[in-house]
Amino acid sequence: MKNVLITGASSGIGLEIAKVLEKNNRVFLSGRRKIDKKNYFSCDLVDYSSIKDLVEKAKEYFNSEIDVLINCAGQYIYKPIEKMTKEEIDYLLDLNFKSAYILSSLVIEGMKKNNWGRIINIGSISGVVGEANATLYSAAKAALGGLARALALEVAKNNITINQINPGWVETPLVENSLTEEEKQEVIDVTPQKRFIEPVEIAKLCEYLISESAKGLTGQNINLCAGLSIGC
Ligand SMILES: NC(=O)c1ccc[n+]([C@@H]2O[C@H](COP(=O)([O-])OP(=O)(O)OC[C@H]3O[C@@H](n4cnc5c(N)ncnc54)[C@H](OP(=O)(O)O)[C@@H]3O)[C@@H](O)[C@H]2O)c1
Repeated sequence: MKNVLITGASSGIGLEIAKVLEKNNRVFLSGRRKIDKKNYFSCDLVDYSSIKDLVEKAKEYFNSEIDVLINCAGQYIYKPIEKMTKEEIDYLLDLNFKSAYILSSLVIEGMKKNNWGRIINIGSISGVVGEANATLYSAAKAALGGLARALALEVAKNNITINQINPGWVETPLVENSLTEEEKQEVIDVTPQKRFIEPVEIAKLCEYLISESAKGLTGQNINLCAGLSIGC
């Protein structure tokens, strides 16, 4: 039974990861919305001191170090590059990249102390193949993939693995709130397997990545995308 901190766990993919992992682990969850649960902390991950508070609250709840960090919180802004404001640029980088970097920096010492740890970033296929009108989201997710590789090297001897899962289109509130029915059909049409990924597929991969069976898998970007990354 491991101590697992999951961001973006109030909705969609993160919520599903929490449901799957809580069966065999202790989980501490975060999101922005208010939820009244003792293993949940509401915070905005673009704020450095809130991120520090989140780690402290999780450690307090576990009464121990964090064994597994799952960086799932993320959002995109869909518009051409010339329309992006400075605030939007800062926000997307802070949320999709910097928050995961900072969280990793805050949990790694405890993992080193225990000579065991797992970090999983939820990236996006947009960071692998690029997505027009989502330039900064794509770039931030690609940066996250670079972090997984570099940090995996840095802590390889400490029995800590860092990997990134890059989902294709997943049916979650993020997609529900941003795509019309027509656009959803277009997604299905261009996806080789002609379907959306289900959140539980990502949750099950996380379950595997934190298991002992996956101890040799580190620094990898795994595209869970129903074939989107291989062409159409
Ligand atoms: N759905 C897809 O097709 C898809 C594809 C590829 C990658 N992804 C990635 O998968 C991850 C989860 O996406 P999802 O589809 O599950 O989206 P979602 O249902 O909208 O969930 C996003 C989660 O992130 C949290 N969050 C957003 N902004 C935050 C902030 N500033 N501070 C703290 N928490 C914040 C949300 O909290 P609140 O809702 O409580 O504010 C929520 O828990 C994201 O990183 C996304 O980029 C999704």
